[in-house]
Amino acid sequence: MSKLPYILAIESSCDETAAAIVQGGERLVSSVVASQIATHQPFGGVVPELASREHLRNIVPVVHETLREARMSLEQLDAIAVTKGPGLAGALLVGVSYAKALAFGADKPLIAVNHLEGHIHAVLLEQRQAGNNNLQFPVLALVVSGGHTHLYLAEQVGHGWKYRNIGHTRDDAAGEAFDKVAKLLGLGYPGGPILDRLSKFGDPKAVRFTLSQLKHADRNSRGPRKHAFDANSQRFDFSYSGIKTAVLRHVETHNMFAAIEERRAALLAIPRPTIDDYRRVCDQHTLDLVASFQRAMVGDLVGKTLEAAQETASATLLVTGGVAANSELRETFERRGAQEGIPVHFPSRPLSTDNAAMIAAAAYPKWLNREFADMEVSGEAHLPLR
Ligand code: KG4
Ligand code: ZN
Repeated sequence: MSKLPYILAIESSCDETAAAIVQGGERLVSSVVASQIATHQPFGGVVPELASREHLRNIVPVVHETLREARMSLEQLDAIAVTKGPGLAGALLVGVSYAKALAFGADKPLIAVNHLEGHIHAVLLEQRQAGNNNLQFPVLALVVSGGHTHLYLAEQVGHGWKYRNIGHTRDDAAGEAFDKVAKLLGLGYPGGPILDRLSKFGDPKAVRFTLSQLKHADRNSRGPRKHAFDANSQRFDFSYSGIKTAVLRHVETHNMFAAIEERRAALLAIPRPTIDDYRRVCDQHTLDLVASFQRAMVGDLVGKTLEAAQETASATLLVTGGVAANSELRETFERRGAQEGIPVHFPSRPLSTDNAAMIAAAAYPKWLNREFADMEVSGEAHLPLR
């Protein structure tokens, strides 16, 4: 048997410049992620122009470092993979252009990968590493990140994978809600990991977010529930702009703005705040609000996903994307999944947020199918996953 292929992948869809080499869709040879958090932090969110500029600055050293860590040269690679979309247009352009140049210069095939498919394959890569090669189908995947809250039914067709979107957020993505609430509370960017760690110190039952603040109006007008799942008519949508507004109302009615400004200024004066610093600048009321917000988000994500799993008779659940790093989300999915008899798999935390190992893993089935991109390929900000 010929040796398993080495695929070098490049990821630049948002605010991480990443490269990785994975052999045979499974063996992680090297992986480098250059985060731009420090660049975007003062602005409380990703600034697209700055992201493109940082990618331009980072991409060559990141790819060199990936080859160096792997002790490999370009000649030893079997293919170059790259994130084609979805993501920021200017950011994607940097990765796609560089990958095309590398592939052309080294005379290697080029493989275009959907970023969301990458997130799904982050789980599959690690499941294969753990020896779990027999997933039970149907597989339902929740991709929950700063840009997406999407549910896909995934099936394997030959070597390849096909996806059917059965739900997504109508407005804000879950990670976006975490980031916006953290910003509103003066806690900085990116909000998810900070709120995750602070939640442990608050009372999740202190502030009640009602169901109507979390659910989309359309969910009421779905009509009587059908017995058989019909992908064309039944959707499992999410909506997170309501809860963000509810947090804002709470802040207004409790006159929290002055304290928030003080907190923002105090944190800006600390170069790399630790969890103790964050705790110190938060009163108990704020910690309770944070814990209650997270509890509501997690309850909604887990509840709706398990409802979708039940109605699609899914046998396996994959939960992936940046928000899948959230401790309460993981614990709740594990507990509720076990109660309902459905195995739930996550990526390890480093592979939950953006990285290139997941892109290399998703490229492997395409390599087996000889699904190569031509030199005309370009980034697509709104690339759908099918
Ligand atoms: O997948 P990712 O790195 O980038 C996108 O494709 O969007 O996800 C980033 C998002 C951010 O919104 C960040 O706040 C959120 O994931 N995130 C978290 C946690 N870690 C990252 N949200 C909640 N809890 C976490 N521990
Ligand atoms: Zn992502």
